[in-house]
This record gives sequence, C-alpha cells and structure tokens, in this order.
Amino acid sequence: MIITIDGPSGAGKTSLAKALAKKLGIIYLDSGALYRAITLEALKRGFDKEHIITSLLPGLKLTIKIDEKMRLWIKGKEITEEIRNPEVTREIWWVCRIPQVREKVNNILREYAKDRDVVVEGRDMGSVVFPNAPYKIYLTASLEERARRRYQELKKMGKEANFSEVKEAIEERDKKDSRRELAPLIIPQDALLIDNTHLSIDKTIDKILAFINRNEN
Ligand code: DC
Repeated sequence: MIITIDGPSGAGKTSLAKALAKKLGIIYLDSGALYRAITLEALKRGFDKEHIITSLLPGLKLTIKIDEKMRLWIKGKEITEEIRNPEVTREIWWVCRIPQVREKVNNILREYAKDRDVVVEGRDMGSVVFPNAPYKIYLTASLEERARRRYQELKKMGKEANFSEVKEAIEERDKKDSRRELAPLIIPQDALLIDNTHLSIDKTIDKILAFINRNEN
C-alpha cells in the first residue's frame, strides 16, 4: 500500500505523514529530505548544476535509516539535522529543478517503496512518482495559518523570527513550487483534498482512514 501526501510548505505534511504511518504500522518516507541532502552536499562542495550532475549524483552514497525520523547519512556522516539548515532551505529551489536530481530521488523512493507499505510526503508524490498509488492526499491550509505554524515552530526552537518575513518566505516557496516547469506542485486528479486550517491532526487522520476504507470496499 502506498499513501502519498502532497501539499505546500507548512501544511503539516510531516506531522501528519509520521502520525499516519505510526497508526498504520507502516514506513514513513520524506522526499524533501532527499532533496535537502543533495542540496547540502552540493553547497558543502561548492558545486553548481553541472558539477552536481557530473560529480555528485553518480557516486552519491546516501544511506537512509527508516525509523520515525527517517535518518540520513552521506558517506557515513549523519546529516539528519543539518539538512534543515536555513541555507539549504534557501538554496534548494534550483537544485530540485535539475531533472537528473529528480530522477535520482524518484528512483531511491521507488526502490524503497517496491516491497513495502509506505506513507510518502512531498510535492509530486501522487502526480509523478507514484501515479498509481491507491490513496493520494493533498494537504493544505491557509497561507496565514501555515505562516503562523512556521513562526511558532521557529520561536519554540529559540530562533529570531518576524511573522511578515516568515509569511513572505512561505509565499515565495509556494510560487517556486507551483510555477516550476518540472514536477510542479499540483493537486492530483484522484486525490483527497484536505484543508486543515481548522482541523486537528487526529481529525485529519480520521478523514484519511475513512477515505481508505471507502476505497477498499
Ligand atoms: O518538504 P520540504 O520543505 O522539506 O521540501 C524542501 C524543498 O524540496 C521544497 O521547497 C520543494 C522541494 N521538494 C520537491 O521539489 N519535491 C518533493 N517531492 C519534495 C520537496
């Protein structure tokens, strides 16, 4: 069974995907983390697009440990936390536009999901990577609410944050994610659309379980 969860930044995909995977006792996969890992490594080595294609991707030694967090290593060094750096978030847009990068990430995901039951989150999981997945979710929330959640997250981590700036950054990412040519963020035709602006995570999970049950029978 493959359950895809796509949607814009800050919609709550990660919390939902983790909780749903736990509830169903299946694996959680985060496609964004793989794009982040490649971006981090490219930044560390000062690589541009050409170098990513010719020098980074061919020998990429990315190890994934499937647990609640989906921990990642590159060449034996754990990078689970480092991939969340603001610099990676800022620079990722041009790395994830490279077709060869997308192909690499898609292949890794498909390989992992081949013989397993998974909940996989991202931007193009239902539209491009797993078009035949039986259960597709598109999760969204208002821009204001997504900015509010992100702002509180930053505050909780003890980071300096300005609400208007956080909101602008999310709006900018929305544009980049949905206007890009390759694998833009779209609502898959057969997806269950959930706006969780006023919905708790438990209620959201209930909706998804009802959707699964409806489609199973
Ligand atoms: O989900 P996230 O915020 O960690 O993702 C980081 C970036 O990676 C996001 O701005 C867009 C990109 N991404 C993508 O292009 N395709 C995916 N399937 C997942 C993420």
